[in-house]
Amino acid sequence: MSTLITAKSTSLLPPSLENKRPKESSPTYDHSTLSNYKSVLGNLFNTDLQLSINFDKKQIDGTVTFELKSTNTNVYHLDTSYLDIHSIKYNNQQINNWSILDRVGALGSRLVIKDIPEGNSANSNKLSIDFSTTDKCTALQWLDSNQTSGKPYVFSQLEAIHARSLFPCFDTPSVKSKYTCTIKSPLPVVFSGIEKESHEKDVYAFEQTVPIPSYLIGIASGNLVSADIGPRSKVYTEPFRLKDAQWEFDGDVERFIETAEQLIFKYEWGSYNVLINPQSYPYGGMESPNMTFATPTLIAYDKSNVDVIAHELAHSWAGNLVTNCSWDHFFLNEGWTVYLERRILGAIHGDPARHFSALIGWNDLENSINAMSNPERFSKLVQDLSDGCDPDEAFSSVPYEKGFNLLFHLETKLGGTEVFDPFIKHYFSTFSKKSLDTWQFLDCLFDFYHSNYYYKNSKERDYTKYEILRNEVDWETWLFKAGMPPKPIFNTELADSVYDLVHKWKSLVSKTDNTNSFTPSPGDIKNFNSNQLVLFLDTLCNPKEGGLHNWYEYSEVVEKFLSVYGKLIGGSRNAEVIFRFFRFQVYSHNKESYLKLSDWLGTVGRMKFVRPGYRLLNMVDRSLALETFKKYEYTYHPICATLVKQDSGIGNK
Ligand code: BES
Ligand code: ZN
Repeated sequence: MSTLITAKSTSLLPPSLENKRPKESSPTYDHSTLSNYKSVLGNLFNTDLQLSINFDKKQIDGTVTFELKSTNTNVYHLDTSYLDIHSIKYNNQQINNWSILDRVGALGSRLVIKDIPEGNSANSNKLSIDFSTTDKCTALQWLDSNQTSGKPYVFSQLEAIHARSLFPCFDTPSVKSKYTCTIKSPLPVVFSGIEKESHEKDVYAFEQTVPIPSYLIGIASGNLVSADIGPRSKVYTEPFRLKDAQWEFDGDVERFIETAEQLIFKYEWGSYNVLINPQSYPYGGMESPNMTFATPTLIAYDKSNVDVIAHELAHSWAGNLVTNCSWDHFFLNEGWTVYLERRILGAIHGDPARHFSALIGWNDLENSINAMSNPERFSKLVQDLSDGCDPDEAFSSVPYEKGFNLLFHLETKLGGTEVFDPFIKHYFSTFSKKSLDTWQFLDCLFDFYHSNYYYKNSKERDYTKYEILRNEVDWETWLFKAGMPPKPIFNTELADSVYDLVHKWKSLVSKTDNTNSFTPSPGDIKNFNSNQLVLFLDTLCNPKEGGLHNWYEYSEVVEKFLSVYGKLIGGSRNAEVIFRFFRFQVYSHNKESYLKLSDWLGTVGRMKFVRPGYRLLNMVDRSLALETFKKYEYTYHPICATLVKQDSGIGNK
């Protein structure tokens, strides 16, 4: 028999942690929505979208219908952002008393619907809203035929709070709903669900039978074709890159799914497909259910970016089934996903490969915190966005890598994967189809090792793991302190040759005499894979890890470097490598590379490269940075262009 634990008196958490628990009960309130979402929790059993894509007007017109079990309020507040609202009905009756309030920064404009008549308590009640998107929409990017392979194209990107710019909704990860959807378009359409038969010309029908939050909706339309990449998987893209995309992902996807199923539980979504968008897609990948959206920079012609697919797939459990209840707890989505991604890769390529990936992540975390304008606020694992701060502004490597490191720390402290794995299954089944906060995660963790954990082959409870959690984890630092977390001990088997080589180059810099025995040759890096090149170039430029910021002071060494390695590294088609090679050359003040970097910025739209790319260029040649941005601004996603302007003070001066 289990006893109920009341939070304050008999908490399993250590008092220092328990004292931090908010008074409000979990899951805590999401302050990034203006909707009165609490009134639909447990009450919304389907959302229906009827959309029509108009490429000429660059506009989506549609009707959203919320199917509600009962009505316990006569007022609904919904999120909107730059939407036109035409009319509203409740159970087919026109509602006239509605208004759109003034904008509240990034949170958009609240739609207030009043005088909702009493509904039928047993049946479905339908709240329908006719709307159109506008030219200020932040959820969609429209591409003209000259920006693609010849046909217009549109794609959505809704995480974190852009769904409200596509349709009026309860735009919070706390609300989950099933979806039915039809989309009219002159070009093929993909959606975050399973395609259904449609009898109307140019109309595509879909359904999502697993309840999902609004940010996971994904829509794209363009000249899309598809090819198989696994028994339950296809890749969709424009015809000219179909073969390359198929080659890049074929086979790996199914291996990833099966590995994840072993680690967690069955894949519950049916199909797992990948959409490769045009180059302006601003993220590496986005985990819309059944249809991961991805950047074409994943096509590296050597399968070296498939880890991004492992990541988006891992979201099928972390994020998509078990969801953060607000963006304060974003690490529950991304930290868990990075942890699972690395477990999947580790299971396939061996544990040293997992540790190697964690080392690269550690560098990302350092770079990210160093580049922050407000690290005191944004480098904490658990965030506080209750002031209405834009979640896009809080976005960084912190939820990903600090989150991963916390879970890896727990795994290590508890005694390894054998001890941690039963908790993984328990956690994901406990919160499947729910949204939760950090406190529920902690309660679940402490409870598991307190009440569910036994000595091997015995009926006797093993409390030693629980004691470790209580006494040996510095929760305060991990969850609430700014800055880098304690560095774990990583296995450096695959990294040692990389570190050795950095060391040798460093010795060329520090020694002025010629007793140095290191003679560089292309053979030094010939056997490095793309990830090793990434770590090599990262470490070379990171003073904290034995590298340098000021390569420009050692032009002879740099010249040698470029003449010996330039061809091999410069020939890479992996964007992660290409970007880091530019960074090394900019740190070396190698003027020839500036124009090449400028050209490259016209071929990528992924913010991970575009933003730091402009920062680099701006550092060494501001007028070239300005000129480059002017030339390519219209090719970037609106969010990307805005952030580049903010980062580098480009465009508004
Ligand atoms: N869910 C994220 C993308 C995202 C996060 C979009 C927040 C908008 C707001 C996705 O799963 C992701 O993390 N993508 C990474 C890939 C990765 C870490 C392997 C990316 O885009 O770089
Ligand atoms: Zn992710």
